[in-house]
Amino acid sequence: MNSSAKPRLAVLGSGKGSNFAAIADAIAAGALLAEIAVVVSDVEGAGILQHAQDRGMRAEHLPPGRYRSKLDEESERKLIDLLRDVRVDWVVLAGFMRILKGEFLRHFSQRVVNIHPSLLPAFPGLEAWQQALEYGVKVTGCTVHLVDQGIDTGPIVAQEPVPILAGDTAASLHERIQQAERRLYPVAIQRLLHGQVRVEGRRTFAV
Ligand code: GRF
Repeated sequence: MNSSAKPRLAVLGSGKGSNFAAIADAIAAGALLAEIAVVVSDVEGAGILQHAQDRGMRAEHLPPGRYRSKLDEESERKLIDLLRDVRVDWVVLAGFMRILKGEFLRHFSQRVVNIHPSLLPAFPGLEAWQQALEYGVKVTGCTVHLVDQGIDTGPIVAQEPVPILAGDTAASLHERIQQAERRLYPVAIQRLLHGQVRVEGRRTFAV
């Protein structure tokens, strides 16, 4: 990336794409200085692809291959090639339900960011809001983190707490966490892309 160019993002998702929409809105509003080069989903017809097409962005379905929770080798290779072709600087995961490992992470070392719907390291993995509700914690939230080889284990960049209310159901809690995500993620991405976050081992610092 030359210094005057805006960082180019690939946004990867498997679901409805509300985080993607918040990121695209922040870019349109000038609050996030970046360009979305491509949006990729492992799910044909996913909402995130529709959102991207509606905004005139390049949207690609990537068949994931034979595994359930990760991309197979061929699919991962295709993804790396695509992101290289479109000259991606950063990979933003927005509800991408496949684990990215080894070769992919080596290509985009310290340049893959994710948002998770809990205050990590509590409740990694699936349906974190449901886990929090069942555990009985009073506060949960969302976490933006860099992606490493583990599941939801990379260095934490930003977190926002969300209180659990007496009348909460899984659906109401999930909705409030997603509202927090849509606030937090674009701000955290802007800071990461523009050198306002320093990473030292597991810890990150505001610059
Ligand atoms: C978000 O809640 C995020 O925390 C999780 O996947 C969900 C994606 O939702 N990783 P959306 O597709 O952005 O609406």
